[in-house]
Amino acid sequence: MKEKLQKIREHAMVQIQSAENLNMLNDVRVAVLGKKGELTSVLKGMKDVAPEDRPKVGQLVNETREEIEHVLEQAKKKMEALVREEKLKAEVIDVTLPAKKNQSGHRHPNTIALEEVERIFIGMGYEVVEGPEIEYDLYNFEKLNIPEGHPAKDEQDTFYINKEIVLRTQTSPCQARVMEQGKLPIRMIAPGRVFRSDEVDATHSPSFHQIEGLVVDKNITFADLKGTLEEFAKELFGPETKTKFRPHHFPFTEPSAEVDVSCFKCGGKGCRFCKGSGWIEILGCGMVHPHVLEMCGIDPEQYTGFAFGVGLERIALLKYEIDDMRLLYENDIRFLGQF
Ligand code: DAH
Repeated sequence: MKEKLQKIREHAMVQIQSAENLNMLNDVRVAVLGKKGELTSVLKGMKDVAPEDRPKVGQLVNETREEIEHVLEQAKKKMEALVREEKLKAEVIDVTLPAKKNQSGHRHPNTIALEEVERIFIGMGYEVVEGPEIEYDLYNFEKLNIPEGHPAKDEQDTFYINKEIVLRTQTSPCQARVMEQGKLPIRMIAPGRVFRSDEVDATHSPSFHQIEGLVVDKNITFADLKGTLEEFAKELFGPETKTKFRPHHFPFTEPSAEVDVSCFKCGGKGCRFCKGSGWIEILGCGMVHPHVLEMCGIDPEQYTGFAFGVGLERIALLKYEIDDMRLLYENDIRFLGQF
């Protein structure tokens, strides 16, 4: 019996030694100590042992069991430590590696330009309002002094939904909508998308953006218009910027003007940017036509006002020295990533 136990013990030790992983160790445990294991079967054979020898043999079996259990436990611990170490090695993090850049989006140059314009006018006490992109002919043309058959209508050919509804050609209809509400005085800008059936080229697109401005109050004069737009130009293009008002015609303002700013690239000397003239056209403006005030329910004897309209893309192109408007719409990340 003693020899048998000795053999089991030795065999178990060899098996434990050669176990390569935790599963194999467990197999050894089952084969030796398990319910049908070698040692267990020895215990089952106790009935064949002479009664006086039983305590002795029992003790021997227990000692062998304990010894094997101990060695198994040690081997298991060692193996687990090894596994842990290997795992740690495999998962090592090199903290000196450069981090992956987080590719977050950012504002479109049009949006940057718009927010800049909004900031300037909000600073002067203006409110920002919006109007519909699909507009009644009535607001887009009629109430702005552009009646049926007026030549100015041809210049702003657009997309007609039907005879009465168009995609707005300008943000100016917001003027009529705000005036009609009858809350005076008015100090507002109205940014938004406008449409014209223009061919796409470096300076034209069938869809672009404008920012409308309108002030209506008592005693508003052309001097207020000039002062306001001069301040706007200085804030937008720098304190050295000069402005020039050229007489022009818009049906809804009288008198009307186009405003040029001194070229911020060459300071007015003339360069490629301003096509040698030293000046760059930026907007249209004028004193709100008395007839327009009247059509919108405001008494032109009591109130006067001025209005202006700026092309948003034009500002973005000028500010960032972009020479083709199409770049703003192509969504090429190589271009957009520069802002
Ligand atoms: N809506 C005009 C355009 O599209 C721009 C404009 C000119 C707006 C003069 C105005 C203004 O409010 O007073 O060309």
